[in-house]
Amino acid sequence: MSILLPGGIGYIGSHTAIELLQKGEDVVVIDNFSNSKPEMIEKIEKIAGKKIKFYEADYTDRNAVEKVFAENKIEAVINFAGYKAVAESVKEPLKYYYNNITGCIVLLETMKKYGVKKFIFSSSATVYGKPETVPITEEFKIGGTTNPYGTTKLMIEQILQDAYNADKTLDICILRYFNPVGAHESGLIGEEPQGIPNNLMPYVVRVASGELKELSVFGNDYNTHDGTGVRDYIHVVDLAKGHVNALEKLNKEGKGLYIYNLGTGKGTSVLDMVKAFEKTTGMKVPYKIVERRPGDIDECYADATKAEKELGWKAEKTIEDMCRDSWNYIKNRNL
Ligand code: WQD
Repeated sequence: MSILLPGGIGYIGSHTAIELLQKGEDVVVIDNFSNSKPEMIEKIEKIAGKKIKFYEADYTDRNAVEKVFAENKIEAVINFAGYKAVAESVKEPLKYYYNNITGCIVLLETMKKYGVKKFIFSSSATVYGKPETVPITEEFKIGGTTNPYGTTKLMIEQILQDAYNADKTLDICILRYFNPVGAHESGLIGEEPQGIPNNLMPYVVRVASGELKELSVFGNDYNTHDGTGVRDYIHVVDLAKGHVNALEKLNKEGKGLYIYNLGTGKGTSVLDMVKAFEKTTGMKVPYKIVERRPGDIDECYADATKAEKELGWKAEKTIEDMCRDSWNYIKNRNL
């Protein structure tokens, strides 16, 4: 039996593929290279010491997805596929709604046709919108997303809720990621945003490497300890391990729809992150304070106790680990 990973050679998918392979699972990946590169396949296999079965395909292509299910005994689907650039989603909403929603529906309909019941969805803390208080628990209301990317996550969560209400034999786990950063300790795989990075850490490492001149800190007048935005950064390997635990939960219990925050429960400001990066790597990160970025919120970090209690999962890596591993990947990539 195999685990199907649509988007499985992307940033989070590739790290999860490695954890699953190392746990002895067989992994099948569908990816169209829209935000990843073919050479990632051999890197995953090199790190894990095991082959994956790969299909170059678009998960909105029903025939291509059906072929994968027909040729493999799929026992669960972990969906990493989907466009995820916030700024791009504002400029091209239809592209985001079509791809992210259609792809997920094609997966769910094909699962139904082949009697596959287990589905894990990569959601995001962005579904909480601007939280009234922190830390955020899974019981907080969701909605008020500030961009089409976030709204696709919200819509897919609703689709999953309705699909489960219509068919209680389904086994669904929604994982709400906080801010994934870092890279595998091997330095062979990491985050490769196309073009100029939108997110903080990919930008910081490229300033440190000299690729970019300086970091723009988007506002220092937020209601936080140092005025800069506070987020819950979680190491991508901790996040990947959370998927393994979620799959074990569905295998053990099943018949339910489960929702978990995957975060560390700690908030880190932009300037905290810059200081930690400089201290950990010895590299300088010149920065300037600029205007706030539209749509940004002051503070966002998880209450991660539900995942600890019900999945037996807790993030272990520190901010320093995230800085060290992010920098290690960029150094290796530039060799
Ligand atoms: C973090 C902090 C910025 C860049 C988004 C999506 C979320 C998820 C992760 C996909 C904020 C500040 C950033 C920069 C800065 N996306 N910043 N200068 O906005 O919390 O979350 O990415 O999975 O769904 O919403 O992450 O890394 O963009 O920003 O000052 O050049 O860093 O203002 O306070 P964000 P981010």
